[in-house]
Amino acid sequence: MSSQVPLEIASFCKRCSDALSWTTENESCVELVRDELPILLFNKPLFAEILHSLVEGGGYPDLGHSTMFDNELLLHADSSRLFTLRMFLWGPGEYTVIHDHNSWGVIGPVSGVLGVFNYKREDDGSREEYACLIETEELRCLPGQTTFTLPLNQGIHKIGNPTQESMVSLSVYGKPLDRGYINGFDIDNDRIYKIFPPKSKKKMLAFQALAGLK
Ligand SMILES: [Fe+2]
Repeated sequence: MSSQVPLEIASFCKRCSDALSWTTENESCVELVRDELPILLFNKPLFAEILHSLVEGGGYPDLGHSTMFDNELLLHADSSRLFTLRMFLWGPGEYTVIHDHNSWGVIGPVSGVLGVFNYKREDDGSREEYACLIETEELRCLPGQTTFTLPLNQGIHKIGNPTQESMVSLSVYGKPLDRGYINGFDIDNDRIYKIFPPKSKKKMLAFQALAGLK
């Protein structure tokens, strides 16, 4: 595989771009993408080819692109910032921490089973570093099935791989809020904390470390 975006992904992204240019309403965007994403989720040969290319050191997807999570790869970023398409690779039993989002998102597995835990925030957000969550839902998605998330407190979840086999999932995220971080939640200790993309975190740490070099 070359560094070019595969045709199936390019045409999926073109359809999303056309559809999403008509609405900015989160629920409508989620609905539109939930209609389209299964077409990619059912295309196992395409993702076998993409993974093969990754293993062989091919040019697509670009491993050097900055992401929030270390199991995340950018497959496409819309030129108008309407959405991004991302692939996540999960080892056996691996889950994210509980987190919120800066945009709507549609999520589903290409292989295996995607486990999803959804949460609701019970506190009013007025206490710094404090958040009280309750689990509201546990879902399991099979290949081709999708679930969704929404920005900020409307979309607090933890997702991952409940099985003993490695698996692949896809996520489409909408235009992000200009926040620069997501919130992570420690449900056992009622704590909320900021998670920065590694690239931003390195810059912040460099800026802070400068003080010690004066
Ligand atoms: Fe998420």
